[in-house]
Amino acid sequence: MKGIILAGGRGSRLFPLTITTSKQLLPVYNKPMIYYPLSLLMLAGIREVLIITMPEDAPSYQKLLSDGKSWGMRFSYAEQEHPRGLADAFLVGSNFVGNEPVCLILGDNIFFGHGLSEQLEAAAQLNSGALIFAYAVRDPERYGVVDFDERGVALSIEEKPIKPSSNYAVPGLYFYDGSVVERARNLEPSSRGELEITDLNKSYLESRELRVEVIGRGVAWLDAGTHESLLQASNFVQTIEERQGLMISSPEEIAFRAGYITRDELRILAHGLGDTSYAKYLSALLDEPQVPFWRGPADPE
Ligand code: TTP
Repeated sequence: MKGIILAGGRGSRLFPLTITTSKQLLPVYNKPMIYYPLSLLMLAGIREVLIITMPEDAPSYQKLLSDGKSWGMRFSYAEQEHPRGLADAFLVGSNFVGNEPVCLILGDNIFFGHGLSEQLEAAAQLNSGALIFAYAVRDPERYGVVDFDERGVALSIEEKPIKPSSNYAVPGLYFYDGSVVERARNLEPSSRGELEITDLNKSYLESRELRVEVIGRGVAWLDAGTHESLLQASNFVQTIEERQGLMISSPEEIAFRAGYITRDELRILAHGLGDTSYAKYLSALLDEPQVPFWRGPADPE
Protein backbone atom coordinates (compact mmCIF):
# COMPACT_ATOMS: atom_id res chain seq x y z
CA MET A 1 0.00 0.00 0.00
CA LYS A 2 1.09 3.56 -0.75
CA GLY A 3 0.66 6.59 1.50
CA ILE A 4 -0.13 10.26 1.04
CA ILE A 5 0.49 13.02 3.57
CA LEU A 6 -1.58 16.11 2.88
CA ALA A 7 0.54 19.00 4.10
CA GLY A 8 -0.88 21.97 2.21
CA GLY A 9 -3.71 24.18 3.43
CA ARG A 10 -3.74 27.79 4.57
CA GLY A 11 -3.32 27.16 8.28
CA SER A 12 -5.35 30.31 8.85
CA ARG A 13 -6.36 29.33 12.37
CA LEU A 14 -2.70 29.53 13.32
CA PHE A 15 -2.03 33.01 11.92
CA PRO A 16 0.38 34.78 12.35
CA LEU A 17 2.48 31.61 12.91
CA THR A 18 1.67 30.27 9.46
CA ILE A 19 2.05 33.44 7.40
CA THR A 20 5.61 32.51 6.48
CA THR A 21 5.77 28.84 7.50
CA SER A 22 3.71 25.84 6.54
CA LYS A 23 1.72 24.55 9.50
CA GLN A 24 3.08 21.02 9.18
CA LEU A 25 6.65 22.27 9.60
CA LEU A 26 5.91 23.93 12.95
CA PRO A 27 7.40 22.24 16.00
CA VAL A 28 5.40 19.84 18.09
CA TYR A 29 7.77 19.79 21.08
CA ASN A 30 11.02 18.44 19.61
CA LYS A 31 10.22 17.58 16.00
CA PRO A 32 8.41 19.03 13.01
CA MET A 33 4.69 18.28 12.97
CA ILE A 34 4.92 16.21 9.78
CA TYR A 35 7.10 13.60 11.58
CA TYR A 36 4.00 12.43 13.46
CA PRO A 37 1.77 11.48 10.50
CA LEU A 38 4.84 10.19 8.67
CA SER A 39 5.70 7.92 11.58
CA LEU A 40 2.16 6.64 11.55
CA LEU A 41 2.47 5.57 7.91
CA MET A 42 5.78 3.92 8.74
CA LEU A 43 4.18 1.99 11.60
CA ALA A 44 1.49 0.83 9.17
CA GLY A 45 4.33 -0.66 7.10
CA ILE A 46 3.89 1.86 4.26
CA ARG A 47 7.20 2.75 2.62
CA GLU A 48 6.24 4.76 -0.47
CA VAL A 49 4.86 8.15 0.44
CA LEU A 50 3.69 11.19 -1.54
CA ILE A 51 3.93 14.49 0.31
CA ILE A 52 1.52 17.15 -0.98
CA THR A 53 2.38 20.76 -0.14
CA MET A 54 1.69 24.30 -1.26
CA PRO A 55 4.15 25.20 -4.07
CA GLU A 56 6.02 27.80 -2.01
CA ASP A 57 6.65 25.30 0.80
CA ALA A 58 7.89 22.43 -1.37
CA PRO A 59 11.61 23.34 -1.04
CA SER A 60 11.40 23.32 2.77
CA TYR A 61 9.78 19.88 2.87
CA GLN A 62 12.32 18.54 0.39
CA LYS A 63 15.16 19.94 2.48
CA LEU A 64 13.74 18.31 5.59
CA LEU A 65 12.82 14.91 4.17
CA SER A 66 14.64 14.55 0.81
CA ASP A 67 13.97 11.26 -1.00
CA GLY A 68 13.52 9.26 2.21
CA LYS A 69 16.36 6.84 1.44
CA SER A 70 18.26 7.51 4.63
CA TRP A 71 15.17 6.31 6.54
CA GLY A 72 14.63 3.33 4.28
CA MET A 73 11.64 5.08 2.72
CA ARG A 74 10.78 6.46 -0.70
CA PHE A 75 9.31 9.98 -0.75
CA SER A 76 7.96 11.93 -3.67
CA TYR A 77 6.37 15.36 -3.78
CA ALA A 78 3.41 17.04 -5.44
CA GLU A 79 2.01 20.54 -5.22
CA GLN A 80 -1.51 21.73 -4.51
CA GLU A 81 -1.75 25.38 -5.65
CA HIS A 82 -4.87 26.12 -3.60
CA PRO A 83 -6.54 24.33 -0.69
CA ARG A 84 -9.17 22.66 -2.86
CA GLY A 85 -10.17 20.18 -0.19
CA LEU A 86 -8.97 16.91 1.30
CA ALA A 87 -10.32 14.70 -1.50
CA ASP A 88 -8.30 16.79 -3.98
CA ALA A 89 -5.29 14.79 -2.69
CA PHE A 90 -6.34 12.02 -5.07
CA LEU A 91 -6.45 14.31 -8.08
CA VAL A 92 -3.11 15.92 -7.24
CA GLY A 93 -1.72 12.46 -6.51
CA SER A 94 -3.48 10.55 -9.30
CA ASN A 95 -0.28 9.47 -11.08
CA PHE A 96 1.29 8.36 -7.82
CA VAL A 97 -1.76 6.36 -6.73
CA GLY A 98 -2.78 4.86 -10.09
CA ASN A 99 -5.12 1.96 -9.37
CA GLU A 100 -3.50 0.91 -6.12
CA PRO A 101 -4.82 1.00 -2.57
CA VAL A 102 -3.67 4.05 -0.64
CA CYS A 103 -3.70 5.51 2.84
CA LEU A 104 -4.27 9.26 3.26
CA ILE A 105 -3.24 11.02 6.45
CA LEU A 106 -3.63 14.71 7.20
CA GLY A 107 -0.37 16.41 8.02
CA ASP A 108 -1.63 17.90 11.26
CA ASN A 109 -3.06 14.73 12.80
CA ILE A 110 -1.16 13.12 15.67
CA PHE A 111 -1.91 9.66 17.04
CA PHE A 112 -0.25 7.89 19.93
CA GLY A 113 -1.23 4.93 22.01
CA HIS A 114 -1.50 1.28 22.74
CA GLY A 115 -2.28 -1.20 19.98
CA LEU A 116 -2.10 1.38 17.22
CA SER A 117 0.68 -0.25 15.17
CA GLU A 118 -1.16 -3.58 15.01
CA GLN A 119 -4.40 -1.86 14.02
CA LEU A 120 -2.62 0.11 11.29
CA GLU A 121 -0.71 -2.86 9.94
CA ALA A 122 -3.99 -4.75 9.57
CA ALA A 123 -5.66 -1.72 7.93
CA ALA A 124 -2.85 -1.51 5.38
CA GLN A 125 -3.86 -4.95 4.08
CA LEU A 126 -7.04 -3.42 2.64
CA ASN A 127 -7.61 -4.08 -1.04
CA SER A 128 -11.31 -3.47 -1.53
CA GLY A 129 -13.66 -0.77 -0.27
CA ALA A 130 -12.68 1.91 2.22
CA LEU A 131 -11.77 1.93 5.89
CA ILE A 132 -12.13 4.95 8.11
CA PHE A 133 -11.90 5.31 11.87
CA ALA A 134 -14.22 6.48 14.61
CA TYR A 135 -13.00 8.25 17.71
CA ALA A 136 -15.28 9.27 20.56
CA VAL A 137 -15.18 13.02 21.20
CA ARG A 138 -17.01 15.52 23.39
CA ASP A 139 -17.84 17.84 20.46
CA PRO A 140 -18.65 15.69 17.39
CA GLU A 141 -20.39 18.62 15.64
CA ARG A 142 -16.94 20.05 14.81
CA TYR A 143 -15.98 17.01 12.71
CA GLY A 144 -17.14 14.51 10.14
CA VAL A 145 -19.42 12.23 12.17
CA VAL A 146 -20.01 8.56 11.43
CA ASP A 147 -22.64 6.11 12.62
CA PHE A 148 -22.12 2.36 12.11
CA ASP A 149 -23.53 -1.05 12.99
CA GLU A 150 -22.00 -3.74 15.24
CA ARG A 151 -20.13 -5.27 12.26
CA GLY A 152 -18.46 -1.93 11.54
CA VAL A 153 -20.48 -1.17 8.41
CA ALA A 154 -21.07 2.58 8.11
CA LEU A 155 -24.73 3.64 8.24
CA SER A 156 -24.30 7.37 7.80
CA ILE A 157 -21.57 9.98 7.55
CA GLU A 158 -22.07 13.72 7.80
CA GLU A 159 -19.78 16.74 7.77
CA LYS A 160 -20.11 18.99 10.84
CA PRO A 161 -23.75 18.05 11.54
CA ILE A 162 -25.85 20.33 13.75
CA LYS A 163 -27.41 17.21 15.30
CA PRO A 164 -24.72 14.49 15.30
CA SER A 165 -26.00 10.91 14.89
CA SER A 166 -23.23 9.61 17.18
CA ASN A 167 -20.38 10.99 19.24
CA TYR A 168 -17.84 9.42 16.90
CA ALA A 169 -15.67 11.83 14.91
CA VAL A 170 -13.73 10.67 11.85
CA PRO A 171 -10.00 11.34 12.29
CA GLY A 172 -7.81 12.39 9.37
CA LEU A 173 -6.67 8.89 8.48
CA TYR A 174 -8.31 6.99 5.64
CA PHE A 175 -7.61 3.77 3.73
CA TYR A 176 -9.01 3.36 0.20
CA ASP A 177 -8.96 0.74 -2.51
CA GLY A 178 -7.77 1.25 -6.09
CA SER A 179 -11.02 2.92 -7.19
CA VAL A 180 -10.35 6.06 -5.14
CA VAL A 181 -8.94 8.26 -7.91
CA GLU A 182 -11.88 7.48 -10.17
CA ARG A 183 -14.31 8.24 -7.35
CA ALA A 184 -12.55 11.52 -6.52
CA ARG A 185 -12.80 12.56 -10.18
CA ASN A 186 -16.57 12.21 -9.97
CA LEU A 187 -16.96 14.51 -6.96
CA GLU A 188 -18.43 18.02 -7.23
CA PRO A 189 -17.07 20.84 -5.07
CA SER A 190 -19.19 21.59 -2.00
CA SER A 191 -20.79 24.96 -1.20
CA ARG A 192 -17.45 26.06 0.32
CA GLY A 193 -15.79 25.21 -2.99
CA GLU A 194 -13.84 22.16 -1.73
CA LEU A 195 -13.73 18.50 -2.73
CA GLU A 196 -14.93 17.03 0.53
CA ILE A 197 -13.50 13.84 1.98
CA THR A 198 -16.94 13.19 3.45
CA ASP A 199 -18.40 13.11 -0.08
CA LEU A 200 -15.71 10.64 -1.12
CA ASN A 201 -16.59 8.49 1.89
CA LYS A 202 -20.27 8.77 0.97
CA SER A 203 -19.48 7.27 -2.42
CA TYR A 204 -18.20 4.15 -0.62
CA LEU A 205 -21.11 4.30 1.84
CA GLU A 206 -23.63 4.23 -0.99
CA SER A 207 -22.13 1.02 -2.35
CA ARG A 208 -21.97 -0.37 1.22
CA GLU A 209 -18.20 -0.53 1.02
CA LEU A 210 -17.39 1.85 3.84
CA ARG A 211 -16.06 0.10 6.92
CA VAL A 212 -15.47 1.77 10.26
CA GLU A 213 -13.13 0.78 13.07
CA VAL A 214 -13.13 2.37 16.47
CA ILE A 215 -9.85 3.81 17.70
CA GLY A 216 -10.16 3.17 21.41
CA ARG A 217 -9.72 5.48 24.38
CA GLY A 218 -6.23 4.07 24.94
CA VAL A 219 -5.10 6.05 21.92
CA ALA A 220 -4.69 9.82 21.89
CA TRP A 221 -5.80 11.59 18.73
CA LEU A 222 -4.75 15.21 18.56
CA ASP A 223 -4.81 17.72 15.79
CA ALA A 224 -2.54 20.68 16.01
CA GLY A 225 -4.49 23.22 13.98
CA THR A 226 -5.10 25.95 16.57
CA HIS A 227 -2.86 27.80 19.02
CA GLU A 228 -4.36 25.90 21.94
CA SER A 229 -4.18 22.44 20.35
CA LEU A 230 -0.64 23.05 19.07
CA LEU A 231 0.58 23.84 22.58
CA GLN A 232 -1.41 20.96 24.04
CA ALA A 233 0.15 18.58 21.54
CA SER A 234 3.65 19.79 22.46
CA ASN A 235 2.92 19.44 26.16
CA PHE A 236 1.47 15.97 25.63
CA VAL A 237 4.54 14.76 23.72
CA GLN A 238 6.93 16.27 26.27
CA THR A 239 5.06 14.73 29.21
CA ILE A 240 5.04 11.22 27.75
CA GLU A 241 8.61 11.37 26.43
CA GLU A 242 10.05 12.62 29.74
CA ARG A 243 8.15 10.07 31.77
CA GLN A 244 8.95 7.06 29.60
CA GLY A 245 12.33 8.05 28.21
CA LEU A 246 10.95 6.96 24.83
CA MET A 247 10.27 9.15 21.86
CA ILE A 248 6.90 9.55 20.22
CA SER A 249 7.10 9.39 16.42
CA SER A 250 10.80 9.48 15.69
CA PRO A 251 11.03 8.25 12.08
CA GLU A 252 14.71 7.34 12.58
CA GLU A 253 13.86 5.07 15.51
CA ILE A 254 10.98 3.42 13.66
CA ALA A 255 13.19 2.83 10.62
CA PHE A 256 15.88 1.27 12.82
CA ARG A 257 13.53 -0.96 14.79
CA ALA A 258 11.79 -2.07 11.61
CA GLY A 259 15.12 -3.12 10.16
CA TYR A 260 14.96 -0.55 7.34
CA ILE A 261 18.29 0.94 8.32
CA THR A 262 21.42 -0.52 9.83
CA ARG A 263 23.17 0.45 13.03
CA ASP A 264 25.79 2.32 11.00
CA GLU A 265 23.14 4.23 9.13
CA LEU A 266 21.47 5.20 12.40
CA ARG A 267 24.85 6.36 13.74
CA ILE A 268 25.21 8.69 10.76
CA LEU A 269 21.70 10.08 11.27
CA ALA A 270 22.38 10.71 14.96
CA HIS A 271 25.66 12.43 14.13
CA GLY A 272 23.87 14.76 11.71
CA LEU A 273 21.63 16.02 14.52
CA GLY A 274 24.50 17.55 16.48
CA ASP A 275 24.60 17.87 20.24
CA THR A 276 20.87 17.57 20.85
CA SER A 277 18.75 15.39 23.08
CA TYR A 278 17.25 13.98 19.88
CA ALA A 279 20.71 12.88 18.70
CA LYS A 280 21.54 11.45 22.13
CA TYR A 281 18.34 9.45 22.08
CA LEU A 282 19.19 7.92 18.70
CA SER A 283 22.76 7.24 19.83
CA ALA A 284 21.46 5.39 22.89
CA LEU A 285 19.54 3.06 20.57
CA LEU A 286 22.88 2.01 19.12
CA ASP A 287 23.79 0.42 22.44
CA GLU A 288 20.71 -1.78 22.48
CA PRO A 289 21.11 -5.31 21.21
CA GLN A 290 19.81 -5.15 17.65
CA VAL A 291 16.75 -7.28 17.99
CA PRO A 292 14.13 -5.40 16.03
CA PHE A 293 10.93 -5.81 18.05
CA TRP A 294 9.08 -5.27 14.86
CA ARG A 295 10.05 -5.92 11.27
CA GLY A 296 8.49 -3.92 8.49
CA PRO A 297 7.88 -5.05 4.94
CA ALA A 298 10.57 -5.46 2.30
CA ASP A 299 12.25 -2.51 0.57
CA PRO A 300 10.12 -0.66 -1.99
CA GLU A 301 11.21 -1.87 -5.44
P1 TTP B 1 -7.61 22.06 7.79
O1 TTP B 1 -7.16 22.12 9.21
O2 TTP B 1 -9.03 21.75 7.54
O3 TTP B 1 -7.25 23.40 7.02
P2 TTP B 1 -5.93 24.26 7.08
O4 TTP B 1 -4.73 23.46 7.44
O5 TTP B 1 -5.85 25.01 5.81
O6 TTP B 1 -6.14 25.20 8.32
P3 TTP B 1 -7.15 26.41 8.58
O7 TTP B 1 -8.52 25.82 8.70
O8 TTP B 1 -6.62 26.93 9.88
O9 TTP B 1 -6.99 27.42 7.49
O10 TTP B 1 -6.74 20.98 7.01
C1 TTP B 1 -6.45 19.73 7.55
C2 TTP B 1 -5.14 19.26 7.00
O11 TTP B 1 -5.21 19.07 5.60
C3 TTP B 1 -3.99 20.21 7.20
O12 TTP B 1 -2.83 19.43 7.49
C4 TTP B 1 -3.85 20.93 5.89
C5 TTP B 1 -4.31 19.92 4.90
N1 TTP B 1 -5.04 20.46 3.74
C6 TTP B 1 -4.44 20.45 2.51
O13 TTP B 1 -3.27 20.06 2.37
N2 TTP B 1 -5.14 20.86 1.42
C7 TTP B 1 -6.42 21.28 1.50
O14 TTP B 1 -7.01 21.62 0.46
C8 TTP B 1 -7.04 21.32 2.79
C9 TTP B 1 -8.45 21.79 2.94
C10 TTP B 1 -6.31 20.89 3.87
